[in-house]
Amino acid sequence: MSLAGRRVLLVVAGGIAAFKVLELIRLLRRAECGVTAVLTAGGAQFVTPLSLQALTENRVYTDLFSLTDESEMGHIQLSRAADLVVVAPASADILARMAAGMADDLATTLLLATDKPVLVAPAMNVRMWQHPATRAAMATLTARGVAVVGPEEGAMACNEYGPGRLSEPPAILAAIAAMLAPGTLVGRHVLVTSGPTHEPIDPVRYIANRSSGRQGHAIAAALAALGARVTLVSGPVALPDPAGVTLRHVETAAEMLAACTAALPADAAVCAAAVADWGVEGAAGRKIKKTPGSAPPAIALVPNPDILATLSAAGPRRPCLVVGFAAETDDLLRHAEDKRRRKGCDWIVANDVSAAGGVMGGTENEIHLLTAQGTEHWPRAPKDAVAQKLAARIAAALAGEEPA
Ligand code: C5P
Repeated sequence: MSLAGRRVLLVVAGGIAAFKVLELIRLLRRAECGVTAVLTAGGAQFVTPLSLQALTENRVYTDLFSLTDESEMGHIQLSRAADLVVVAPASADILARMAAGMADDLATTLLLATDKPVLVAPAMNVRMWQHPATRAAMATLTARGVAVVGPEEGAMACNEYGPGRLSEPPAILAAIAAMLAPGTLVGRHVLVTSGPTHEPIDPVRYIANRSSGRQGHAIAAALAALGARVTLVSGPVALPDPAGVTLRHVETAAEMLAACTAALPADAAVCAAAVADWGVEGAAGRKIKKTPGSAPPAIALVPNPDILATLSAAGPRRPCLVVGFAAETDDLLRHAEDKRRRKGCDWIVANDVSAAGGVMGGTENEIHLLTAQGTEHWPRAPKDAVAQKLAARIAAALAGEEPA
């Protein structure tokens, strides 16, 4: 395995397992990965700065308030000079401090300041790992996109048995390699809308459309497969929940907008939902009765909020990349480019939904991708394949490998 040219900032926190990071560093160096170590006060009880320095062949950072550290490399710069921050072993204490957003030593300060993905390898006594406080800290951290490797189950130094052992160095190395792989979305949060919305007329009747949610759900699954944390806001669909995504089920356009804004911040948003353009004005609270001889009720429509346009204009909370869809039956490219400009999104995935094509509700899609750079035609393919191609393009755009 080669990690040539990649750089890891390794935070070594306290714990009997800290000795294992020496082997991890050896494996990283063998893979030609650059390693800079930060040793917490707890970690220094178990390994010495000198052994870390010898193995990393780099200076070791130990104290936030050391003037030499700050003049050579400030903690902000240190936190961003690496491609990945790894905390191993991650003690209950450092996980709690990370979850709380504390910055009371060099390690937590740079973990708060970093804009890079973070991987933690927890190691602690089994009861500490299972304590509600640690459970809550882990839930907070994973919801923020922090990746986790381990802990493993086994006998512990404290003579207890259970989950809490630091993962073995090869397993931590494999997790690091996966996070540094090209095209990854690890550490990114992507918001996806999918499916139709239902706009109630009364408690039993509603206005809907033919969207199946297949393309949006496939996009959510493809993004998750690349390591993204995905929030999928879905209208009513008859599809299984994709694995590894956080699902928010909604019914109306107003609920979809509320769920989307609540899910921000996000690095990217993909609005694949077929949101109803209009809702019913003054939807009845009770079933409208069919009275013999009387005229059918008149239904007045009111415009729904435009979720894509709202996210595109979300100011500082705007995702870096906003992708919309254009389903058209005629003059596809002109209408799609017009939509890209009008809605303020970066890309438009345009498809022809004339009945003859069978795209709406079908399993295949043929699209044009419109960006500020121009238009590409993607030939007809299963919706899963279109989703994977789009997810890879989103990963490249977020990595700065191509313009949004
Ligand atoms: O205006 P039109 O419905 O054709 O635009 C389609 C694009 O806008 C899709 O990406 C769709 O998800 C999004 N949209 C939205 N909210 C609306 C209407 C459309 O997010 N109310």
